[in-house]
Amino acid sequence: MQILNGKEASQSIKDALKLNVAQLLAEGKKVPHLAAILVGNNGASETYVAAKVKACEEVGFKSTLVRAEESITSLKLLDIIRDLNNDEDIDGILVQLPLPKHISEQEIINAIDPDKDVDGFHPSNVGRMVLGQPTFIPATPYGIMLLLEHYKVETKGKHAVVIGRSHIVGRPMSILLSGSGYPGNCTVTVCHSHTKNLEEICRSGDIIVAALGRPEFVTAEMVKEGAVVIDVGITRVVDPSKKSGFALKGDVDYKNVAPKCSFITPVPGGVGPMTIAALLKNTYHSCVKRNY
Ligand code: GUN
Repeated sequence: MQILNGKEASQSIKDALKLNVAQLLAEGKKVPHLAAILVGNNGASETYVAAKVKACEEVGFKSTLVRAEESITSLKLLDIIRDLNNDEDIDGILVQLPLPKHISEQEIINAIDPDKDVDGFHPSNVGRMVLGQPTFIPATPYGIMLLLEHYKVETKGKHAVVIGRSHIVGRPMSILLSGSGYPGNCTVTVCHSHTKNLEEICRSGDIIVAALGRPEFVTAEMVKEGAVVIDVGITRVVDPSKKSGFALKGDVDYKNVAPKCSFITPVPGGVGPMTIAALLKNTYHSCVKRNY
């Protein structure tokens, strides 16, 4: 069993980006600039956005964090996005999700300039990805593809089982794994809350991507010997034995599943760091595409 170490793989991506930034500076060019919008005080969102801003600093990108009250109106949020769309120095815009219930996420995403949509959530970027002509691929599925590539995991002809059909992870993951080229060329089954015989389907998976957000949902009985298991879940559960009072749990029962796998991602330290590295790669490409 080999661990797909997201910390290590993301570090090599960040090291390459640092060199790219040094090259831009040597040529007297501007560096990539990411703007993140954080609405309200959701604890998990605060943590994710802080990690994204820190990663920008680490590789030498500029970043701007725009904070808005939970009670902000759609119109005010659209104003913020319009200003960022018009700001020539900004290369990437992301609105951290989820948004408060009174705001339509799709309306907000649709307002982002597709050329700055480094999350890859705008319909035109989703369409481009589906057609196999991607500009920006959503960061989590893109990070998983980069991780498979880093460890040279064979994907051609494999049966990939994706659990979860969210717009952010499951759906784009299924499109990428079924696409041509590497990593891809899989036969993909997407499972969701209405799937019958889910355990049986999982057992036939050569590759399993668990992205449903239910701690330890995938058990050893659901995984065949030699499978590749990618755990996207990260749920905070109360754990009084931890200093912080909570522990992070993946969607996979790691302790019992890992011994059966050829490759598996840990939580934390697997998909999470790759998501951030993928976002940085998208932001760098946006900067180069827009400016040079
Ligand atoms: N919330 C959960 N995942 C993501 C992500 O990849 N991007 C944004 N903007 N919000 C998220």
